[in-house]
Amino acid sequence: MNPINRRTWLKRTALAAGSLATGASFIQTLEAKPALGLTPWLGEYGLRETYHLQDPMSVKARLLANENPWGPSKKAVAAIAASASKGNRYVYNSSIAMVEILAKKEGVNTNQILIAAGSTDLLEKTAFALCGKGGNVVSADPSYMSLVKTSQAIGATWKNIPLKPDYSHDLEAMEKAIDSNTKVVYICNPNNPTGTLTSIDEIKSFCKRVSKRVPVFIDEAYLELLDNYQTQTAAGLIAEGYDVMICRTFSKIHGMAGLRIGYMVARPERVKMIQDLVRTEMGISVTSLEGAMASLNDTEFQNFTRTNNKINREFTFDALKKAGFNPIPSVTNFILFPVSLSTKEIVSRMADKGVGIRGFDIFGKPYGRVSIGTLDEMKMFAANLPVLLS
Ligand SMILES: Cc1ncc(COP(=O)(O)O)c(C=O)c1O
Repeated sequence: MNPINRRTWLKRTALAAGSLATGASFIQTLEAKPALGLTPWLGEYGLRETYHLQDPMSVKARLLANENPWGPSKKAVAAIAASASKGNRYVYNSSIAMVEILAKKEGVNTNQILIAAGSTDLLEKTAFALCGKGGNVVSADPSYMSLVKTSQAIGATWKNIPLKPDYSHDLEAMEKAIDSNTKVVYICNPNNPTGTLTSIDEIKSFCKRVSKRVPVFIDEAYLELLDNYQTQTAAGLIAEGYDVMICRTFSKIHGMAGLRIGYMVARPERVKMIQDLVRTEMGISVTSLEGAMASLNDTEFQNFTRTNNKINREFTFDALKKAGFNPIPSVTNFILFPVSLSTKEIVSRMADKGVGIRGFDIFGKPYGRVSIGTLDEMKMFAANLPVLLS
C-alpha cells in the first residue's frame, strides 16, 4: 500500500486511523437480528438492518438495492409469459440458445460463456473453485464483498487494499499485495458502494501483467449503465487470451434482479473449472432465460434506462449538494455520501419517511447509499434529506 495514497484517503474522507491500524475493514458487524430469509453475513452490509426496519415491499421509495425501477422491459415480460408453459421441461434448449447469443455478443466461443442465476452465483462459485484450499483474495476496500465473503467462509483470507483518494482502485498496491498464496484478484468496475470508475487503460495493463500469475475477476455489474460502456469494458482481454474473468448481470440495465440471471466470459479452462464442480445453468428458469434473450434485443429499453438513470442521478446529486452533503460523483445507479449520524440512524429515519436506503461504515465513518429510482422516488428522498442532517 502506497503510504501517500493511504494518507490522502484518510485525510480526504476523515477516516478513523485506529480502524486501519488494526487492519479492520469497512464493514461494521451489526447486532444479530432475525434472519428474514437473508444470508447471515448480509447483515454486515446493513441490509438486514434495513429490512428489519421496514417491509421492503411496502416502502414507498425502495432505494436500497441498486435495482432498476423501470424493468423488466415489456418485451421481456411478454417472453416470460409466453415461455411459462414450457416450464415442464428442463432448460437445455433455451440455455444453449442463450450461450450462443452471448458468445456472439462478446466475440468469444461458446465454451467461454458460463450462464448462472445472477452474478452472485458466479462470484460464489468462482470462490469455491479457486479458494477451496485456502489462499488469499486481493480486492479493494470498500468494494463488493460477495466473492471475498464466500472465499473467507471456506478458509481463504482477504487482502484489502484501500481505494485511492479519487475512489479508483489502487492497482499498484493491489499488484504489490499479490503473493504466492493469492488465488484471485477481484476488481469491481464501476465499484460498489462508491459508484466510481477505474481507468480501463490502467485495468488492462494491470491485467496483462498480473493475469500471468493469478486470474483477475472483473465484476462489470453496473458498466452497461454508462453511455460509453463499450469503451470501458475489459472483456476484449479474454479474446486476446488473458486469464481474465468478466461477470455481467441482467439485474441492473435489464431490470431483472428478481429473475436471477447473469453470465461470465472467461478462458475455456476457467469456465470448465466451474463446470467440473457445478451445473450453474440448472439454477436458471426457462422464463428467465427467455426473458433475458428478449431483453438483450430490446435496446430501446436499455437506452431508456441509461438515459433516465442519468437524469435522475444528476437530480439526486444536486439535491444532496443543496442539502449540504458531499456526495461522491457516481457513474452508476447509486450514490454514496458521507453522513454525520450513524448508519443505523440514517436508515431508520429515512425508513420512517417511507424511503429505503442503505448505510455503510467505511473505515469507521458512516455513509449513506441511495439507489437511483424513478424521479418521483428521488424527489421523495430529496424532500426528506433534512432528517439526515442532525
Ligand atoms: C458489484 C455487484 N456485483 C454483483 C451483484 C449481484 O448481482 P446479481 O443480481 O446478478 O446476483 C451486485 C448486486 O447488487 C453488485 O453490486
